[in-house]
Amino acid sequence: MNRSIGEMVTIRPQMIKDARGFYDILTGGAFQFFPVNVASIEAEKRFLRKDIRQWRAGEAWNFSIMLGDRLIGAIGIMPEDSRPYNAEIGYFIDRELHGKGYTLQAVRLAEQFVLTCQPQIHRLYACMVVDNVASARVVEKAGFLREGRLSGYLKVGKTFHDAFVYGKVIGSY
Ligand SMILES: CC(C)(COP(=O)(O)OP(=O)(O)OC[C@H]1O[C@@H](n2cnc3c(N)ncnc32)[C@H](O)[C@@H]1OP(=O)(O)O)[C@@H](O)C(=O)NCCC(=O)NCCS
Repeated sequence: MNRSIGEMVTIRPQMIKDARGFYDILTGGAFQFFPVNVASIEAEKRFLRKDIRQWRAGEAWNFSIMLGDRLIGAIGIMPEDSRPYNAEIGYFIDRELHGKGYTLQAVRLAEQFVLTCQPQIHRLYACMVVDNVASARVVEKAGFLREGRLSGYLKVGKTFHDAFVYGKVIGSY
């Protein structure tokens, strides 16, 4: 895999000004296993406004992944409503920049955020369509364990897919 040595990503809370960048990444990506419908830049702005409210309410912490000044993707931590000590992690990266290890860096940074700023979260988990090898590889490299296969758990377009669930306990028992 071709890696660019020395390029480190950062993560920061999402901003309304990210709307165009996300629109371009999401509409240009044609991501096979990642159902995203972004109708317009205005719709993306509405999503980002909701995002900011959710951050303040502690309902989700969504970050932009940055390479220098360039917006290259997103990573989010979403605690469960009923068991807020469990949180799901999700991510995507600009298709042009796949294969450079940027998502793995972002997962590690998001985990650091949880450890330092959201210590009530005990467990992180990720779910992906079983054929989404890249996504599974990212969390495996970040130390998550494959815990099971969920039948028909994820719907992409009109089709239901089996999903793998990966988990990592980051708090103490
Ligand atoms: C999943 C995603 C975020 C991975 O991001 P990335 O930064 O490109 O990750 P990498 O390219 O570093 O790949 C991680 C690992 O998967 C491997 N990989 C990638 N595609 C693969 C494939 N088709 N088959 C086998 N391995 C693959 C890479 O080789 C790498 O492993 P390595 O470091 O041991 O070489 C990216 O593919 C993406 O944005 N996909 C669309 C959105 C999505 O599916 N999000 C996840 C929803 S659960």
